[in-house]
Amino acid sequence: MITDLLAPRAVADAHGVYHELREHAPITWLPEHHAWFVARYDGVHAAFRDLRLSSDRLTPLEARLDPDARAILADTFDLLRGWMVFHDPPHHERLRGPVRRAFTPRAVEALRPHVVEVVDECLDDMAADIAEHGRTDLITRLAFPLPAIVIAELLGVPVADRDEFKTWSTQLAAIVFGTSDRSSQAERAAAGTARFAEYFTGLIEHYERHPADNLISALIAARDTAEPPLSATELVGACTLLLFGGHETTTNLIGNATRALVEHPDQLRWLGANPDAIGGAVEELHRFDGTTKLMVRIVGEGHEREGVEFEPGQTVFLGTASANRDPRAFDRPDELHLDRPDAHKHLGFGYGLHFCLGAPLARLETQIAIGRLVGRFADLELAAGPDELRYGATILGRALDELPVTSAGAGASPG
Ligand code: HEM
Repeated sequence: MITDLLAPRAVADAHGVYHELREHAPITWLPEHHAWFVARYDGVHAAFRDLRLSSDRLTPLEARLDPDARAILADTFDLLRGWMVFHDPPHHERLRGPVRRAFTPRAVEALRPHVVEVVDECLDDMAADIAEHGRTDLITRLAFPLPAIVIAELLGVPVADRDEFKTWSTQLAAIVFGTSDRSSQAERAAAGTARFAEYFTGLIEHYERHPADNLISALIAARDTAEPPLSATELVGACTLLLFGGHETTTNLIGNATRALVEHPDQLRWLGANPDAIGGAVEELHRFDGTTKLMVRIVGEGHEREGVEFEPGQTVFLGTASANRDPRAFDRPDELHLDRPDAHKHLGFGYGLHFCLGAPLARLETQIAIGRLVGRFADLELAAGPDELRYGATILGRALDELPVTSAGAGASPG
């Protein structure tokens, strides 16, 4: 049984490896990661609600860095301390409240016509690529630009800067996800943080003087609802979290969902014939092959759990992707059924206090992207062998590097 989640097979065939872990035991120690892996649906669901498991991953992460990297990253950690996702109650709610009040489902729904426009432009680019080269990369043409454009516009930051956001996100991800503690990368992440802190501070000052119809203005208006009010660094932290959270996760969901559809042509045709079923279909696609493989917690208070002893300070992986394929929770979980009635109970957006604040936006974008993609390219197919598709080697995210696709009809514009 593989316990190294970065082993090549664990990256390429994550669901196969989770299957083995899940059937081996409810909870397994992964020596390579010095962490427990909670594999079954009920266990993951319960762990999300258990306050003995802390979300403060920053303190141990900072403690693990070498002293040079820690000094270089001091400002980066200050910024990250403004991210609600790293906090427990009551501080967590203090940071989440103003964002929840500003980032409402109604504000998200108002974006619908604009998201349709952006998707259609991306689909035009895909059709042009296919006409010229016989294939296109769905990640470059649709899955990456869509969330980047939408979150930039929602926040009120110039779309033209989005490539820079990507570089910065990647540098920060290396720190946040603990993939690097080398000083050279720390320096780059620190430079990126300084640049973005300065950037958002300027934007916040601008919208303080000239409020507009965007999320930054709404956050400025809501910051005093926290007790005490959000500080300037916390406000910058909230903006950067939204920018960061809204990027790669949605890109990867659109990529994985499309791969699942082209590998299940009967389901692709079914969706083409039942466009009104897109809401439930996207829940099933998320359950079947979501983008977050696991969430991390730290044992705050020691306790016994499903036969194992959790000790304070230990790391715990909540296996969300594994839970979403648990046969104890879902009937025939390795099959894709877009009309599955209980797909929405998947744990891909987490659960409980930290349930994803961006879920309405992620759902809107993915539903429109997949719905219009299928409507326009009814015969979409892979333009590479399944063995040629590669995923990024991380334990947290399931991210295709590329997804080459083609279509004989080449998706004439619906006009
Ligand atoms: C398919 C896309 C997405 C997925 C799979 C996803 C997944 C998640 C998950 C699993 C969590 C819980 C973290 C935890 O329990 O520690 C979370 C939290 C969060 N997400 Fe998302 N997310 C997505 C898109 C977005 C978008 C578009 C935004 C904002 C623009 C966003 C903003 C947030 C925020 C602010 C939190 C922190 C909530 C808290 O700690 O209270 N996410 N997300």
